[in-house]
Amino acid sequence: MSEESGKEVLRDEEGVEEVLMKYREAGKIVAEVREQAVTMVKEGVLLLEVAEFVESAIREKGAEPAFPCNISLNEVAAHSTPAHDDKRVFGNDVVKLDIGAHIDGYIADTAVTVDLSDENGRLVEASEAALRAAIEIIHEGVSTTEVGAAIERVIREYGFRPIVNLSGHGLARYVAHAPPTIPNVGQRSGVTLKENDVVAIEPFATNGAGKVSEGSIVEIYSLVKAKPVRLPAARKLLEEIRKYNTLPFAKRWLPRVQLDLALRNLEAAGVIRSYPILREAARGLISQAEHTVIVKKDGCEIITA
Ligand code: CO
Repeated sequence: MSEESGKEVLRDEEGVEEVLMKYREAGKIVAEVREQAVTMVKEGVLLLEVAEFVESAIREKGAEPAFPCNISLNEVAAHSTPAHDDKRVFGNDVVKLDIGAHIDGYIADTAVTVDLSDENGRLVEASEAALRAAIEIIHEGVSTTEVGAAIERVIREYGFRPIVNLSGHGLARYVAHAPPTIPNVGQRSGVTLKENDVVAIEPFATNGAGKVSEGSIVEIYSLVKAKPVRLPAARKLLEEIRKYNTLPFAKRWLPRVQLDLALRNLEAAGVIRSYPILREAARGLISQAEHTVIVKKDGCEIITA
């Protein structure tokens, strides 16, 4: 999943090698599931079928989804997941699949674009090439400004624009969007990457304005802060969503009794936050590519390859 700029969370510290092995296992699982899911993305197939496959395959392989399977079409960049009764099927769309798995809270995050339009191959290549360029320069000591600049340069070379207000991010235990922010454009100041930092790099390329804004559809939420609520339906729902810890969850994963009422109540009380879908400001088409990497002294290890 991608980050809207500007949030700060603390990073957990534990036995480094043990933790990295959990990240690697999550990465291996999510990469296998991504490859299987890509073969399912075909015209006429239900989006819901792919999302449910991804989430159950992650569980069958011994991990948990780190967030709902995001399936974002065309001008939608991110934060789109099917509703429980979603009847949409794939057409000749530019399809972004963004999936995450965690083992014991340690998250691997990866995304791929499938071009069912057969007309947007270069748009897809632009984000893939930008991702490769970023990965090539990542090592201990590199600044996130250099990474962002490399991503922007490659996407512009292809004749497209990077999405300026979506970025890659660090990963921490049960935190899908931890510092540092990895921008998709060159910036004046940044953060120096350290050995064993785990970061998700996710360039977005568009033929539109290069910016996303929030749409009205919401199917994804996460817990912000559990606190007492009076409405019984909200209290019951809070019990249910605690099991996702602070990770994003889908509305379709929840029991449907008084669900809209309870969600509104919890959001108004500041207990949960919503993730509205993010759409390109000029309704341009968007491609995305994403890998999670472990920063090393002289390079980086891609755990979702
Ligand atoms: Co991400």
